[in-house]
Amino acid sequence: MDLSQELLARLDSLRAAMAGLPAAEGLRYLAEEFSGNIAFSSSLGIEDQLITHHIFEQELPIRVFTLDTGRLFNESYTLLHKTNQRYRKKIEVYFPRHEAVEQLVNEKGPMSFYNSIDDRKQCCYIRKVEPLNRALQGVQVWVTGIRSEQSGARQELQLLEWDEAHQLIKYNPLLHYTLDEVWAAVKALHIPYNPLHDKGFVSIGCAPCTRAIAEGEDFRAGRWWWEDNSKKECGLHAR
Ligand code: ADX
Ligand code: SF4
Repeated sequence: MDLSQELLARLDSLRAAMAGLPAAEGLRYLAEEFSGNIAFSSSLGIEDQLITHHIFEQELPIRVFTLDTGRLFNESYTLLHKTNQRYRKKIEVYFPRHEAVEQLVNEKGPMSFYNSIDDRKQCCYIRKVEPLNRALQGVQVWVTGIRSEQSGARQELQLLEWDEAHQLIKYNPLLHYTLDEVWAAVKALHIPYNPLHDKGFVSIGCAPCTRAIAEGEDFRAGRWWWEDNSKKECGLHAR
């Protein structure tokens, strides 16, 4: 059996062993099982700040990285700095390949994502997907902050998933948490968070592609709002 097959074969027993474990304990369990081969991708959003807290506070051997697309909000950079200071750790930062960004911007301009879905996906590929693929090299378990409430597609997910694209196990520790539960934990633990959340931003990505939503609007309504709902994934979580 090659490594992917071995990992896939462990999925059922991991699911059984981890059933009902809260996020902090699930992370601890997997950190022990996959020490050195487990990584968390943080977008610095509210869910991800809670996961980062559990990892750093428990000193778990889980790499924490973020993808800096070059188009993030200033508030996100400030939060990255504050988070590093608070936990005395350094979240690893992955950048896009500069040649690819130069070519994109020189050919199509700095706002190409508004032209068409293809152009938007091209920008997401260069600025997020390719750097993610590099960040996940050698990783056996990828931790994300996805919650099922966030979109229709995410409701079908399980806590532990097989990621065919990256040939690894994906763990979504907050999958079944509500937004209120996440906030309650963040406030109780005094975890630093992005002040844009207090201004109606639920999901925070790149500045030109994220806006605040009104009460009652869909969670994803603030992302790529000019596009059809069904197209709204950036390719990080392709299934
Ligand atoms: S996206 O697919 O729309 O961009 P979303 O913002 O909902 O994703 O975040 C879902 C999860 O994807 C986050 O919890 C995080 O694990 C990962 N993620 C999204 N953006 C980034 C980023 N810039 N850096 C690292 N991880 C990210
Ligand atoms: Fe580019 Fe927008 Fe995707 Fe960010 S979210 S990588 S700016 S298209």
